[in-house]
Amino acid sequence: MRSRYKPWAIEYLKNNFKNQFSIGENEDFSSIEEYVLNRPTYLEIGPGKGQFILNLAKRYPEFNFLVIELDKSIAGTTLKKIDEAEIDNVKLIAGNFYDLAKGLKKSKFCGIFLNFSDPWPKKRHEKRRLTSPNFLIEYAKLLKEEGYIYFKTDNGDFYQYSYEEFNKFKRDIIYLNENYDCSNQDFDAETEFENRYKLQGIAIKRVILKKTKDTLLELPK
Ligand SMILES: C[S@@+](CC[C@H](N)C(=O)[O-])C[C@H]1O[C@@H](n2cnc3c(N)ncnc32)[C@H](O)[C@@H]1O
Repeated sequence: MRSRYKPWAIEYLKNNFKNQFSIGENEDFSSIEEYVLNRPTYLEIGPGKGQFILNLAKRYPEFNFLVIELDKSIAGTTLKKIDEAEIDNVKLIAGNFYDLAKGLKKSKFCGIFLNFSDPWPKKRHEKRRLTSPNFLIEYAKLLKEEGYIYFKTDNGDFYQYSYEEFNKFKRDIIYLNENYDCSNQDFDAETEFENRYKLQGIAIKRVILKKTKDTLLELPK
C-alpha cells in the first residue's frame, strides 16, 4: 500500500508504548510472548489503519489481537486509533512479520489474518507476497494445532496464486467464496480496502484454511 509519509505518525510511534511492542535488534520478546500466552490470540499481518482489528477486538473481548505493520506512517496512525479506542486487547508492532516470527519461541496463535495483502504481481517480487512459501512455513510454525488462516483479496491473480500455494502446504479449506459480501458478522469485519473495492463493484474472494496434522512445516521438496 502506498501511503503518505506522516511525520506526526512517526513521532507518535516513537513516544507511545501503552499498546505497542518493539522488535528491534537485541529486543526481549518476553512481553509479547506473555501477551500471546495470556489469552487465545489472533495475529493480523498488514492491518492498514486498523478498522478491521478494532471492530473485531471490541466484539471479542475474550481474545487478544496482535497486529504487525511494516509501514511506519500507517503503523503510527493505527496505534493512535488503538490508544483512543481504550481497549486492552489489541497491541501493535511496527515492523516486518519475518522479524517477529524469528524472535517468537513459545507463542502460538489461534489464527492469522491476511486482509488484502499487497499482490506483488511481478515474479521477481514473489518472495514479498504474504502467501509465498517462506511465509506459509512460518504461519504453520506459529499456528496452534487446528489454527486458521483467514484470507481475503480483491485480486484474481493473487487469489489464484495463493490458492495453489495453500494447497501445496496441505491445509484444509474450510470456507471458500469468490463473491464474498462481508456483513461485519461471524468472525469477520470489513477492512478499509474492502470498503473501497466493494464500492467499485469488485468481487471479494475469501478463503479460510485450517492447519491439520498433515500441514507441511518445511518447504516441499
Ligand atoms: C494493501 S494494504 C491492506 C491494508 C488492510 N489490511 C486493508 O485491508 O485495508 C497491505 C498492508 O500490509 C503491510 N505489509 C506488507 N508486507 C508486510 C510484512 N511483511 N509485515 C508487516 N506488514 C506488511 C503493508 O505495509 C500494507 O500496509
